[in-house]
Amino acid sequence: MKNIYLDNNATTPVHEKVLEAMMPFFREAFGNPSSIHWAGSTVKKAVTTAREQVASLVNCSPSEVVFTSGGSESINTAIKGTAASRGKELSHCITTMVEHPAVFNSFQQLKRQGFGLSCLGVDRDGMLDLDELKSTITEQTMMISVMAANNETGVLFPVKEIGELAATRGISFIFDSVQAIGKIPLDFGTLPVDMLTVSGHKLHAPKGIGALIVRSGVRLPPLILGGPQENNRRAGTENVSGIVGLGKACEIARNDLDYEIVRIRNMRNALEQGIIERIPNVKINGHMDKRLPNTLNISFKEVYVESLLTDLNRIGIAVSAGSACSAESREVSRVLTALGLDSTTARSSIRFSLGRENSQEDIDTVIEVLPPIIEKIRNERQSQLAKRKN
Ligand SMILES: Cc1ncc(COP(=O)(O)O)c(C=O)c1O
Repeated sequence: MKNIYLDNNATTPVHEKVLEAMMPFFREAFGNPSSIHWAGSTVKKAVTTAREQVASLVNCSPSEVVFTSGGSESINTAIKGTAASRGKELSHCITTMVEHPAVFNSFQQLKRQGFGLSCLGVDRDGMLDLDELKSTITEQTMMISVMAANNETGVLFPVKEIGELAATRGISFIFDSVQAIGKIPLDFGTLPVDMLTVSGHKLHAPKGIGALIVRSGVRLPPLILGGPQENNRRAGTENVSGIVGLGKACEIARNDLDYEIVRIRNMRNALEQGIIERIPNVKINGHMDKRLPNTLNISFKEVYVESLLTDLNRIGIAVSAGSACSAESREVSRVLTALGLDSTTARSSIRFSLGRENSQEDIDTVIEVLPPIIEKIRNERQSQLAKRKN
């Protein structure tokens, strides 16, 4: 059986055209974009084009794009930079219980430094309560940071409502859009947000490249100090090949977005329907509609997820039990716990995340092989329990 990769929220393969676009920048076009001689000028042009390609995907001005090493750096820059620029007058931050560790841990650090922090919970669908958000805002609130789309469940937060609440009160609003960019349309031109985060490896560019989109006029000191690169917002000689790759990936995502959304959503829905029809005692986690088109998080009652992942991996099917960052640890998912799942149910949940390289054939295969695997694991569990009783 051919390998099937259904873990695209963890990372994606580099698109062939992205790799092709990057190749010259390792040898022939090796210059430093800051150099004024011939070797620098072609490279500088390529960085400018990539900036325009990223800007075009999210509808911002190229001057609002700051290239970084990825989503985590963009988030750290946004949160710590906002605290540094506004923290002298204001001291309170708001985030949610279901954020990526880059957000969660950046705020924990600010909390240790003396900032006030409110972490909002979510309901059983993974949604925020806007009235609770409203009542959590104080005179001292300087920043709200929430995610566009949850990496584990795919649940989408209501950006317009949160952004408007923040804007009318002069609160900075950081929108961690790492999982959303390239999967759903995001329009920085009309969204009431100050900053968006982008991670290359989630949209078929390489790992180690990303961007922070910063609304023009927002004051944001750099996290990484040094030279004047990125308009003094991020020092260090540019990762040119990565930047070119990210630009190309954004161009491809923009061109294919409308088509891919429908194709991927249809496949995800077929997978979900196929599982529900063939396997008893399953539960979908997260809002059924307000969800990324590619993500399905599902609990299988009385199934120990490690056995399931191992059995699937043995036949070449790659899925995960929640986020890639926590895959090594055996901790129960913070996200699923926030949705109110007990630890046994949270431990019986897996995430399928589809991508542009998947086909309906992949989905048909999973629907065929999964029911006997689940049945086998459930039977094994029953006989273990029976043995323990005897
Ligand atoms: C929602 C979200 N934010 C941020 C990140 C971090 O991105 P990166 O891996 O580029 O550091 C991830 C990665 O999984 C994510 O899912």
